[in-house]
Parts: sequence; structure tokens; C-alpha cells
Amino acid sequence: MHMPVKISVIVALSDNNCIGRGNDLPWHLPDDLKRTKEITMGKPLIMGRNTYDSIATRRGGKPLPGRDSLVISRSMAQPDFDNVFVHATLEDALRHGQEIAAKKSLEELIIFGGAQIYRQALPLTDRLYLTRVHIDIPDGDAFFPDINPQEWQETAKESYITPDQIAYDYITLERR
Ligand SMILES: NC(=O)c1ccc[n+]([C@@H]2O[C@H](COP(=O)([O-])OP(=O)(O)OC[C@H]3O[C@@H](n4cnc5c(N)ncnc54)[C@H](OP(=O)(O)O)[C@@H]3O)[C@@H](O)[C@H]2O)c1
Repeated sequence: MHMPVKISVIVALSDNNCIGRGNDLPWHLPDDLKRTKEITMGKPLIMGRNTYDSIATRRGGKPLPGRDSLVISRSMAQPDFDNVFVHATLEDALRHGQEIAAKKSLEELIIFGGAQIYRQALPLTDRLYLTRVHIDIPDGDAFFPDINPQEWQETAKESYITPDQIAYDYITLERR
């Protein structure tokens, strides 16, 4: 039977919902990057142009390997990578992501950020993969919208702490 493709958000956010500062992540959590890779490998990633630029800057100009990056932008030219696709609207990117996921028999596509894209995609989202980092980033400049607990049911939670005492939780939420 053909199952509809789920729309899932993956995001790491501080206690005050900060996700970014200076177009980069405000923390260094290698374990979270590893988990992000495990969850997203092979799946279409939908991201805004700033997030694409941030990743490319960190990776010497290259996109994430092993996944299609569907970049939403009104201004960006199509780069010369066969796993990057520029779309002018969120709706076009979602359509393309759903097509890719269905073709590969994947359960979900991934909303990869940043703040502008999370804000627009959250109402359409079925599942949240959160990394809640228990710090405050008062000088952050990119934030995740408030998550209304009445709309979401927690289905998994694991708690960890880094060697330098930063506590963080991996939380999965499904839309009720
Ligand atoms: N903590 C995390 O898990 C996480 C994950 C991802 C990103 N981040 C952080 O988030 C920050 C970036 O977020 P951001 O809000 O600045 O940028 P963003 O959402 O990544 O990208 C914004 C850009 O996307 C395009 N865009 C947005 N909505 C559009 C629409 N409806 N139609 C067409 N194009 C649209 C525009 O590109 P054009 O200007 O080219 O038209 C816009 O400038 C960075 O600090 C990054 O490190 C954090």
C-alpha cells in the first residue's frame, strides 16, 4: 500500500528556542551532528538559502553528501552539484521532496531549517526531531517558533551531557 510521505522537522534548539547566531550553530555538539546524519541520510532535505550557505561554508563549498538538498530561494542560481535543487517556493520544494521520497520508498522528507523555513513549514509538519540544548543564547539571531504542547505527543526522549557539562535531550514528537 502506498503510504503518504511524512513531513519531519529536525532541529537543535536552546532553552530559549535559539537555533543560530551569525548564520552558524551557536554550539559545538559533534554527537548531535552524528545523530542528524543518521536520521537524515538518504532523505530529501528542504532548507532555506541561508542554511545552505552556512553548510557550504562549513564544508568548503560543498553540500551535505548522500542526501538531496532542496534549497528554497528567490535569488540563488542553480549550483553545479547533482544533489542540489533550487526551488522558488516552499510548495515546489515540498512537491519535489515528496516525489523523491516516494520514488525511494522513504517514510519521510526532512525540513532542515533555518528559522524562516521552520516558521513556514511547522504548520505542515507531522514529526519533530528535537535536540533541546539546555543553555540560553541571549544574543542569538535565529529562533524556532514556540511549540504548542497540546499539538504534540512525545514518543521518545533520551538525555545526555557533554564532557564540558552541557546537558541536552533528544526528543521525538508526533503531531496529535
Ligand atoms: N540549530 C539548528 O538545528 C539549525 C538548523 C538549520 C539552520 N540553523 C541556523 O538558522 C540560521 C539561518 O536561518 P534563517 O532564517 O536566517 O535562514 P533560512 O531559513 O535558512 O533561509 C532564508 C532564505 O530562504 C529563502 N526563503 C525563505 N522563505 C522563502 C519563500 N517562501 N520563498 C522563497 N524563498 C524563501 C530566502 O532566500 P533568498 O534570500 O535567496 O531569496 C531567505 O533569505 C543560521 O544561523 C543557521 O545556522 C540552525
